[in-house]
Amino acid sequence: MRDRLAFLRRLHHYGDLVRVHIGPWRALVVTSAELTGEMLVADRVFDKGGYLFDRIRETGGNGLVSCPHRDHRRQRRLVQPAFHRDRLPGYLRMMSRQIDVVLAGWRDGETVDVRTDMQAITARTLLPRGLPPAVMEQMFTDMHVILAGVTWRAIVPKRLDRVPTPANRRYRRAQERLRAIVAGLVAEHRSRETDHDDLLSGLLSSYDPDGLTEDEIHDQVLTFLLAGTETTANVVSWALHLLAGHPDIERRLRAEAVEVVGDGEVTVADLSRLAVCRQVVLETMRLYPPVPFLTRLTTEDTELGGHPVPAGTTIAYSPYAVQRQAAHFPDPDDFRPGRWAEHADPLRPPRGPFLAFGGGARRCVGDVLGLAEATLMVSAIVRRWSLRPVPGPPVRPAVSLVLTPRALRMRLHAADPEGAAA
Ligand code: HEM
Repeated sequence: MRDRLAFLRRLHHYGDLVRVHIGPWRALVVTSAELTGEMLVADRVFDKGGYLFDRIRETGGNGLVSCPHRDHRRQRRLVQPAFHRDRLPGYLRMMSRQIDVVLAGWRDGETVDVRTDMQAITARTLLPRGLPPAVMEQMFTDMHVILAGVTWRAIVPKRLDRVPTPANRRYRRAQERLRAIVAGLVAEHRSRETDHDDLLSGLLSSYDPDGLTEDEIHDQVLTFLLAGTETTANVVSWALHLLAGHPDIERRLRAEAVEVVGDGEVTVADLSRLAVCRQVVLETMRLYPPVPFLTRLTTEDTELGGHPVPAGTTIAYSPYAVQRQAAHFPDPDDFRPGRWAEHADPLRPPRGPFLAFGGGARRCVGDVLGLAEATLMVSAIVRRWSLRPVPGPPVRPAVSLVLTPRALRMRLHAADPEGAAA
């Protein structure tokens, strides 16, 4: 529990499939990329479930992330139109606008809480315009309380939920408030004549009215908020942290951003030309996958890698541990964006041992969008700003359902268009 990431990384020395006991947890951890891939593809037998998803369901209900296999194909078909490639240009325009809104508040020499500002951008691209800032801020806090608290709750007995500790009360209040906000968002969407260009409007408009029940729509909206805001925001926050330690890469990235984007908006064609930026984003996601650890539950007696696995077994997989294995990525702790030079297509994120978006039929539905948004954000920020650490303890990852840079405060320095920081 003291250093979960180091623990996860060590496990592959014991084998491809390792039995782990933590408190009441009894789980098998898959440590090899090949076996993880095999497990993810067999999503009927290795279904969503296990300690972690039992707790995720308490908030996300039967939404796309947590629903069991029997509901999955139907749900995925219903949400897919919101992620159709034809919608990407509109999303890119809207993302550029939201990035501009948040960056317009930045001042030279000021110190910013990077994660909060990045989350403000990613939440704005999901949410309809006109949501009062106070409601939005409350949502960020509530979402963070849930994402940070869910892993802990997964390893403590459920009966402890009823103990009125401050943490339990905070968690419950966050769940209730988020449900109420989501109900308001859905009602507001229905009362509107025209479709907005944000992702939630896209999602809600794409539903055939008979396709999902009222509860499913609420679960879906909450799921998308939880799955799509902090993940991308953390990628960009980590990227800015890593770039501060690699000024040479930052300079190349700035030159590219100035050349490709200039002052205009980014198109889908521009995305392919932001090659250095995409490599930086992918390498950041390799080192700090936003979702470091997930579980499955076997629905029948089966086997994995030749080992028998009884029905009802919790199996865990870890994008973090696999992506830090030297067998797949030489010098795995080094930040080397160049290793992604072959992955030039922004519409095809890497697969194989790159597990940051999961795999199989339950692979992230927002993979292209999340990658595009992170690329846009990093290039727009670096084009105009250099962010440097403020004095203080080294930035460390906070591990929960998401991998967050703890207390990432950075000072802003305006960059000049020639590519050098002022
Ligand atoms: C860089 C950003 C992102 C990362 C790293 C990420 C990561 C992941 C991962 C690892 C999974 C698989 C979970 C599992 O195996 O149990 C997943 C699923 C999912 N993600 Fe993402 N995600 C990102 C962005 C987004 C965005 C922007 C959205 C939506 C707007 C989104 C919505 C979802 C949904 C709905 C699922 C469930 C898919 C299914 O089961 O069919 N994600 N994501």
